[in-house]
Amino acid sequence: IPVEEFDLVIFGGTGDLARRKILPGLFRRFLSGQMPKGARIIGAARADMNSDGYRQMIRDAIAEFGGDEASETDCIERFLAQLHYIPVDAKGDGGWRELHALIRFKVINAFYFSVAPSLFGDLAECLHRFNIADESSRVVVEKPFGRDLTTAKELNATLAEHFDEGQIYRIDHYLGKETVQNLMAVRFGNVLFEPLWNNHYVDHIQITVAETVGVGGRGAYYDTSGAMRDMVQNHMMQLLCLIAMEAPSVFGADAVRDEKLKVIRALQGIEPHHIVRGQYAATDDVPSYRDDAENSKSHTESFIALRCEIANWRWAGVPFYLRTGKKLKARTSEIAVVFKDLGHSIFPGDEKRHRNILTIQLQPNEGMQLQVTIKEPGPGGMRLIDVPLDMTFADALGPEADDVPDAYERLIMDVIRGDQTLFMRGDEVEAAWAWTDPLIEGWQARGDVPKVYDQGSAGPEDAMMMLHREGRRWREIKEK
Ligand code: BG6
Repeated sequence: IPVEEFDLVIFGGTGDLARRKILPGLFRRFLSGQMPKGARIIGAARADMNSDGYRQMIRDAIAEFGGDEASETDCIERFLAQLHYIPVDAKGDGGWRELHALIRFKVINAFYFSVAPSLFGDLAECLHRFNIADESSRVVVEKPFGRDLTTAKELNATLAEHFDEGQIYRIDHYLGKETVQNLMAVRFGNVLFEPLWNNHYVDHIQITVAETVGVGGRGAYYDTSGAMRDMVQNHMMQLLCLIAMEAPSVFGADAVRDEKLKVIRALQGIEPHHIVRGQYAATDDVPSYRDDAENSKSHTESFIALRCEIANWRWAGVPFYLRTGKKLKARTSEIAVVFKDLGHSIFPGDEKRHRNILTIQLQPNEGMQLQVTIKEPGPGGMRLIDVPLDMTFADALGPEADDVPDAYERLIMDVIRGDQTLFMRGDEVEAAWAWTDPLIEGWQARGDVPKVYDQGSAGPEDAMMMLHREGRRWREIKEK
């Protein structure tokens, strides 16, 4: 179903994100017929270029990052015809009048700030000074949304000077992932799980986002951030919220975000021995984290594992173990809900501990698995084994499962539809920093040095020990 007619201005339209994700994503929406024929995409940046030059840049970007769709050459030309470019100066007057002249005020207007946060204020101010934005405009911003509570508050205040909260779309691209949304469908669309979804039945929950890539190429940014700021404060926090939140009364922006906020606010502080930070080592000829970051004394973590608790009725006493890292064994993101042991086994001789585990696989393959205990087939008596009830969505849904929009495509279309459900609200971001800041300050004050781990491993040994000490174990990091 096509969305309504729109003009989308992408500030930073020549940048990496625009070329890798935003424009190829919009092209896929164009191919699917969701982009109205009259919709306009206006690239705006400092570079002095005309619309034809911009079209060539995006033609190249689609060839490089557009995947299979890059072969649809006729369609690419029709898509490019909807693109325009205006050089603008965020800190001066240049280009704004031309932008004003190009924008159609009768259609939906959205402004994507794909630029450094230090420019948000200037852009917002110019958009108003030149009468380009009004109370019906939408503005889209990206992470990093601040680097601590103070800077996040400043950014929120800057945006609030010019836009209402209902106009601001803060992107966390994890919320645009198909399975992340499926998490809500599974939890709130089935009667099966809800009665068990609490501290009476759940032993613990593990959230893993493992990556095989390192930080090469973006070391300068990453070294000032680290896994905590880069992944935990935002993406992993969102996963934690969706798995732990109470049912909202309706699947709508404020209802969902109110419930997520309650989870973040109920998160407890963490004892130092429940945080393990790591940095990947060099192997033969592959550089170490410190080489990639070009900082031989860096104490920034490329891996982090945490044990957190949510102090509310549902979750009191249930550990949530989070871990994420670069250069690990495999690229895999999953959430595992590990249920408690049976109190008593009626099967003589069966001493093995059986556990039901619900695993939600986010990437690379999307699916769910429920580990259940059954009788081992054959005449050997009542011997029990654990087997997975497996549902890979691609198997169950067939070709339709391949046709899901990527996170950016979906989120941009939500901006045009005016649906903020999958975007972070200002208070949510601030609450997440309010929890994160003392943890970072704590390890800085202690002079904590990250543990070195081998590339291609599951992270530092201490992360394993953190669970072993409690009689638990991490799930294996492997591509599923
Ligand atoms: C980004 C982080 O937000 O998310 C990167 O800055 C990380 O460091 C990326 O690699 C992971 O996203 P995805 O979609 O590949 O899991």
